[in-house]
Amino acid sequence: MVVLLIKPLLSMLAFFHICLATFVAQTSLAAHGAIAPHIADSDQLALMSFKSLVTSDPSGALASWGNMSIPMCWWRGVACGLRGHRRGHVVALDLPELNLTGTITPALGNLTFLRRLNLSSNGFQGILPPELGNIHDLETLQLTYNSLSGQIPPSLSNCSHLIEISLGDNNLHGGVPSELGSLRNLQVLSLGKNWLTGTIPSWLGNLSSLVFLDLQQNGLVGQIPESLGNLEMLTILSLSGNNLSGPIPSSLGNLYALTGLGLANNKLEGPLPPLMFNNLSSLEFLYIEYNNLNGTLPPNIGNNLPKLNYFLVSDNEFHGMLPSSLCNASMLQAIQTLENFLSGTIPECLGAKQTSLSSVLIGGNQFEATNDADWSFVASLTNCSNLVELDVSSNNLHGVLPNSIGNLSTLLYYLSIAKNNITGTITEGIGNLVNLQTLDMPHNFLIGAIPASLGNLNKLSELFLYNNALSGPLPVTLGNLTQLTRLLLSTNAISGPIPSSLSHCPLEVLDLSHNNLSGPTPKELFSIPTLSILITGNDGLCGGIPQLGLPPCPTQTTKKRHRKLVITVSVCSALACVTLVFALFALRQRSRQKTKAHLQRSVLSEQYMRVSYAELANATSGFASENLIGAGSFGSVYKGTMRSNDQQRVIAVKVLNLMQRGASQSFVAECETLRYARHRNLVKILTICSSIDFKGHDFKALVYEFLPNGNLDQWVHKHIIEDGEPKALDLTTRLNVGIDVASSLDYLHQHKPTPIIHQDLKPSNVLLDSSLVARVGDFGLARFLHQDIGTSSGWASMRGSIGYAAPEYGLGNEVSTQGDVYGYGILLLEMFTGKRPTDNEFGEAMGLRKYVQMALPDTVSTIMDQQLRMEIEDGEPDTSNSKLRISCITSILQVGISCSEEMPMDRMSIGDALKELQAIREKFQKLLCSEASSSSH
Ligand SMILES: *[C@@H]1O[C@H](CO)[C@@H](O)[C@H](O)[C@H]1NC(C)=O
Ligand SMILES: *[C@@H]1O[C@H](CO)[C@@H](O)[C@H](O)[C@H]1NC(C)=O
Ligand SMILES: *[C@@H]1O[C@H](CO)[C@@H](O)[C@H](O)[C@H]1NC(C)=O
Ligand SMILES: *[C@@H]1O[C@H](CO)[C@@H](O)[C@H](O)[C@H]1NC(C)=O
Ligand SMILES: *[C@@H]1O[C@H](CO)[C@@H](O)[C@H](O)[C@H]1NC(C)=O
Ligand SMILES: *[C@@H]1O[C@H](CO)[C@@H](O)[C@H](O)[C@H]1NC(C)=O
Repeated sequence: MVVLLIKPLLSMLAFFHICLATFVAQTSLAAHGAIAPHIADSDQLALMSFKSLVTSDPSGALASWGNMSIPMCWWRGVACGLRGHRRGHVVALDLPELNLTGTITPALGNLTFLRRLNLSSNGFQGILPPELGNIHDLETLQLTYNSLSGQIPPSLSNCSHLIEISLGDNNLHGGVPSELGSLRNLQVLSLGKNWLTGTIPSWLGNLSSLVFLDLQQNGLVGQIPESLGNLEMLTILSLSGNNLSGPIPSSLGNLYALTGLGLANNKLEGPLPPLMFNNLSSLEFLYIEYNNLNGTLPPNIGNNLPKLNYFLVSDNEFHGMLPSSLCNASMLQAIQTLENFLSGTIPECLGAKQTSLSSVLIGGNQFEATNDADWSFVASLTNCSNLVELDVSSNNLHGVLPNSIGNLSTLLYYLSIAKNNITGTITEGIGNLVNLQTLDMPHNFLIGAIPASLGNLNKLSELFLYNNALSGPLPVTLGNLTQLTRLLLSTNAISGPIPSSLSHCPLEVLDLSHNNLSGPTPKELFSIPTLSILITGNDGLCGGIPQLGLPPCPTQTTKKRHRKLVITVSVCSALACVTLVFALFALRQRSRQKTKAHLQRSVLSEQYMRVSYAELANATSGFASENLIGAGSFGSVYKGTMRSNDQQRVIAVKVLNLMQRGASQSFVAECETLRYARHRNLVKILTICSSIDFKGHDFKALVYEFLPNGNLDQWVHKHIIEDGEPKALDLTTRLNVGIDVASSLDYLHQHKPTPIIHQDLKPSNVLLDSSLVARVGDFGLARFLHQDIGTSSGWASMRGSIGYAAPEYGLGNEVSTQGDVYGYGILLLEMFTGKRPTDNEFGEAMGLRKYVQMALPDTVSTIMDQQLRMEIEDGEPDTSNSKLRISCITSILQVGISCSEEMPMDRMSIGDALKELQAIREKFQKLLCSEASSSSH
C-alpha cells in the first residue's frame, strides 16, 4: 500500500506547485531588466555583501556582479525601479534554481526598496536574517527548497506589504510566530516540509486575504482551529503529515473557494461533519487518508462536489456504503478507500461516465458480491481507458470472476482481487492487459488452467496465484516474461512438468509448492544462484541438485550410478554395508530438511517482510544507543531483532539523517541500486521504510541482513579480539576478500542497461558475513552512469572519501568506472600493508601508493601487514614457502598499483584485475590450500 499511496501525494504536490506558480506569475513585477540612470551605492554594497557569502555558483550566475563596466541594474537577477523614489534602486532580486550555496547576508535588509526576493531552489544554509524585516516594501519572499535553519524571524511582521511568504522545504524549527498575525495582506503562506512545532495558531483565521495555506509535513500538534473556516478566499489548505488530533471542524465547510483540502496522515478522529461538503462545490482534491475518522461517507458527496478529482479516504474507520453519487463526479481520477469498514455492493455505475478514472483502490473493506449483477462494476470500469490500478482485494466478493476483466484498460499495471472467495476461471482475455506489472489473485477459489496468454504480459514482474484451485499444466509461455521476478503458485492443483523456459525469467522467488507437478527439475532453473525456490509437496518431481532431496529420475545416467553403487556394495562386508546405508540415509534426511527450511525462510522473508516506523523502533529498542553500531554523515546504523513469521531475525537498520542535505537522494540512490543489483558479494537489502516518525517527521530507513563479522576496516586495523586472542585475516582470506570485492564491482560496472558506479569504496564499506565472504555495501553515493550527473551542491558534489576518491574527482571530473577502480586499488594496498592511505607517516608528498611502489618488487617483506609478516615468521623465514608467500603478496600489490594509476586511462579495468587475482589464487593454490587447512585446525 505504501507504494500506491505515494502517487497521490506526489500529484498533490505537483498540483500545489502549479497553483503557486500561476499565482506568483500573476503577482510578479514588471521591473526586470530595467536600465538604471544612476547607481544606488548602498544597494550595490548590499549586493556585493550577498555575493561575498555565496560559496558556490556553478553556473556563474553572479559573474556580472561587481564588474565595473556593467551597471548594477543589469546584473543577473537584479531589477531596478524606473520611476519616483524607487528609480535606480533594486526592487527585485530573482535568483531561483541556480544551485547557489552559502548563507544569506543580513545586508539584504539594506535593500529597502526591494519588493520581491526569490532565492528558491538553491542550497542556502544558515538562518533567515531578521534584518529582512527592515525591507518595508517587501511583497514577495520566496525561499522554498533551500536548507535554511533556525526559526522564522518574527521581524517579518514589519514587512506589512507582504503578500507571499514561501519558506517550504527547509529545515526551519520553532513555531509560527504570532507576530505574523498582523500581515493582513498575506495571500500565500507556505511553510510545509520543515520541522515546525507547536499548534496551528488560531489567528491564522484573521488573515482574511489568505488564498494558499500550506503547513504540511511538519510536527504540528493539537486541533485544527475552528477559525480557519473564516478564510473565505482560501483555495488550498494543506495540513497533511502532522500530528493533528481531534475532529475536523465543521467550519471548514464555509471555505467555498477551496479546491484542495489535505488533512492526510494525522490523528484526526470522529465523523466527517454532516454538512461539511454541502458548499465546497469547487473542491477537486480531498486527501483525508491515514487518520482515525469514522462514521459514514456523505451519500451526496459526488453530487455536491461535481469537480472532484481525487477522493482519498484510505486507512480510516469509515463504514456504510461507498456512495453511488461518486459516479456523478465525472472528473474523478482516483477513488481510494483502502482499509476501512465499507460494505454493501460496489456501485455498478462506477466508471460508467468517468473516462478519466485512473485509480480505484478499494481493498480491505467488507464489500460484497454474490451474483453476476454484483460484479457489473467491472464491466463499467472497462469504459475507463485511463485505469492504471484496481485493487478490490480482501473484501467479501464471492461469485464468478467476470470475463470482462480482460477488457479493462490496457494501461492497467496493478490488478489485485486477492483474498476474496472468487471462483471461475482466468480466461485468456487477461493477456490483453499488456501493461500489467502485478497480477495479484491469491486466496480465492479460481479454477481451470493458468492461461497461456499470460506470456504476452511482457511487463509482468509479479504473478501471485497461490491458494486457489487452479489445475492443468504450467504454460511454457511464462518463459517469455522477461521482467518476472516473483512467481508464487503454491497450493493449487497444477500438474505436469516445470517448464525449463522459466529459467529465462529474472526470477528471484519461485514458489511451486503443494501442487501436482511431476517430472525432472530443470537444471537451468536450479542453477540460478540468486533464486529462492520452493517445490515441496509435489510428489512427482525428481532429479536435480542433491540438496533438493528428490528421488533420482529414471534416466540412463542414474542407471550407471546404480551399477557403480552395486559394485561398491558387493565388495564390502555385510556389516559395513548396513552402516553405510544408514549413514547415507541420515545424511540425505538432514540435508533435505535443511534445504527445505532454508528455501522456505528465504521465500517468506522476501515475500512478506514489510515494516513500519513502529516496528523498527521496537526492533532496536527505540533506536537505543547500545544498539548503535555505526554512524556517518548520512545517518546511523542500528542493530536490531525483528520477528517475521515466527522467526527472530537479526537486522541492521540504517536510519537516514534527513537534516543532512542530500540524505534523501542518498536514500533513493541506495534503494535503486540495491533494487536492481543482486550479487553474492553485495549486501542484501531486506526492506525499506519511508514513513513518519512518532513526532510526525519524515523518517527513512534501510533494513539489511545483519552481517556478524563487521567490516573490513575493523579487521585490518582494529585486530578484533575473540576469546582473548587477536583475530586477523590470513593471506588466503585477504585474497578471497579482494576477489569478492572485485567481482562485485565487475558486476556493477557490467550492469545492464547502465553501469552502476559505487563511488565510495573503502574498507569500512566492505562487510564480512559469517563465512568471511565479503559483501560490498553503502550505496548512498552510487549512480547509474549516464543518469544526469553533477550538481555541485551538497550530496552530489561528494564523490567518495579522502584517500580513496580518484584524483580526477578533485578536479571536478565526472564519476566513472575508473574512479571506482582507483578506490579498489587503494583498498587492495591497504589490505596487504595494513596502512591507511591517510596515515600521517606518509606525509603529503608520499601517499600509500608511492610507499608501496618504492618497495616493489624486491623489498615487499618490509611493508607488508604485520599479521602477514608474522605468518611468514611463524614458519621458517627463508624457506621456499615464505618466499612463495612474499611473491604472492607482491603480485597482489602489483594489481593494486595498476588499479590506482594517476591517469584514469592507465588503470586496468576491474574485470582484468579480477582475472589477475584469480590467476594469482590459481598459481599459489598449493600454498594457500595448505594455509586453509592449517588455519582450520
Ligand atoms: C547596511 O546598513 C547599515 C546601516 O546603515 C550599515 O552599517 C551597513 O554597513 C550596511 N551594510 C552593507 C553591506 O551595506
Ligand atoms: C566585465 O564585463 C565586460 C562586458 O561584458 C567583459 O568584457 C569583461 O571581461 C568583464 N570583466 C571581468 C573582470 O569579468
Ligand atoms: C468515532 O470516533 C469517536 C472518536 O474516536 C468515538 O468516540 C466514537 O465512538 C466513534 N464512533 C463509532 C461509531 O465508532
Ligand atoms: C472464504 O472461504 C473460507 C472457507 O470456506 C472461509 O473460511 C473464509 O472466511 C472465506 N473468506 C471470505 C473473505 O469470504
Ligand atoms: C513465447 O513462448 C513460446 C513458447 O516458449 C515461443 O514459442 C514463442 O516464440 C514466444 N513468443 C515470444 C514473442 O517470445
Ligand atoms: C543545478 O543542478 C541540477 C542538478 O544537478 C542541474 O540539473 C541543473 O542544471 C543545475 N543548474 C544550474 C543552473 O547549474
